[in-house]
Amino acid sequence: MQFDFHSTHSIIVERGGSANLAKRIVERGGKSVLIVTDPGVLSAGLLNKALPQFKELGLSLQVFSDVEADPPVSVIESAVKLAQKCSADFIVGFGGGSSMDVAKLVALLAPGKEKLGDVYGIGMAKGPRLSLILVPTTAGTGSEVTTISIVTVSESEKKGVVSPKLLPDVALLDAELTLGLPPHVTAATGIDAMVHAIEAFTTKRLKNPVSDCLAKEALRLLAGNLHAAVNKGNDIVVRENMLLGACLAGMAFTNAPVAGVHALAYPIGARFHVSHGLSNSLMLGPVMRFNIEQAHGMYAQLGQIIKPGLQGSTTEQAAQLADYLGGLAGDLGLAKGLLEVGITSDDVDQLARDAMLQTRLLQNSPREITLADATALYKEAL
Ligand SMILES: NC(=O)c1ccc[n+]([C@@H]2O[C@H](COP(=O)([O-])OP(=O)(O)OC[C@H]3O[C@@H](n4cnc5c(N)ncnc54)[C@H](O)[C@@H]3O)[C@@H](O)[C@H]2O)c1
Ligand SMILES: [Fe+2]
Repeated sequence: MQFDFHSTHSIIVERGGSANLAKRIVERGGKSVLIVTDPGVLSAGLLNKALPQFKELGLSLQVFSDVEADPPVSVIESAVKLAQKCSADFIVGFGGGSSMDVAKLVALLAPGKEKLGDVYGIGMAKGPRLSLILVPTTAGTGSEVTTISIVTVSESEKKGVVSPKLLPDVALLDAELTLGLPPHVTAATGIDAMVHAIEAFTTKRLKNPVSDCLAKEALRLLAGNLHAAVNKGNDIVVRENMLLGACLAGMAFTNAPVAGVHALAYPIGARFHVSHGLSNSLMLGPVMRFNIEQAHGMYAQLGQIIKPGLQGSTTEQAAQLADYLGGLAGDLGLAKGLLEVGITSDDVDQLARDAMLQTRLLQNSPREITLADATALYKEAL
């Protein structure tokens, strides 16, 4: 056995903990802070508890709130410029995966030693980076514990920067911030987190016992709380379980990488601006059914956690799980298929060609996905 395992140095779980964000920064020597967030997080008032302490402690503070979902290169460049202009020595990513991913790249690029165009791919970013705290406000991407930032580089392509340098110094999990997350965002981001755990557990490359433990515990928390989080979003225990589940899934997949569901979801997000979580939700059933021959034993193990009591052979249990998970988005009030988000059979060939560019992810699939397979999978997902 041989594997490396990387994670965020310090993970703090604290209800209401955002109120002491400035204190955490002062403890780590920060003086000039840039908070990176998006307009939705700002207008939901999620920074209101955190901001007063910055003034009390005499920190210099700028807020960049122009992050867009599935952030394009231009957003990252603007945020880096602001960090340089205010001589930031500490970056905070405060929001969903989009805000956290931008913050990670700002921390890396603001020192001016590396350029975004040079760091795409695995292990290209070398650092140094500025100090970095990530505060998730969705229970989804797990970006606060991953070595990854995803950038939308064109109307059809998303690229990843993957490097241990992108792990923050601190991940602060304050479930109170997620209490008001709307039901459709809760559902989509929650399914994204489940996909992280499922793909980490079944990945062809770098599967390891630590990620396996994390993926299974993540699925216990996520599957056990997702419906309640969508239907009864003001329950702090449910929200905390989701936030922790998403974090554990992030720890799993950053070491045992995601595969076909993400590879086929990215072109949907890039071309049709369907949210990352929903794109994944729509491809989950078809990709799982496609993988059953190779992955039925692993799916059956996960089935006993996600939907205890599945019966029959491991292949039969895997098929029941794929059907259940394939229907989850629709059950939770999201779209049931690609047609409902405006994608038709005319788009399928183009999407399949786009998906073939996701070689970083496709190499992890338990079953090889060819162009013809990708086309068939998109058709099945219509
Ligand atoms: N770095 C990684 O490891 C990783 C993994 C998976 C996905 N991603 C990337 O993350 C991005 C998706 O992130 P996401 O799914 O968290 O969504 P997001 O960050 O794009 O946020 C979605 C929406 O939810 C709103 N929102 C966030 N928190 C809220 C709250 N508590 N209350 C009310 N509204 C809130 C935001 O304003 C935004 O409008 C994509 O770019 C995806 O590619 C990154
Ligand atoms: Fe994801």
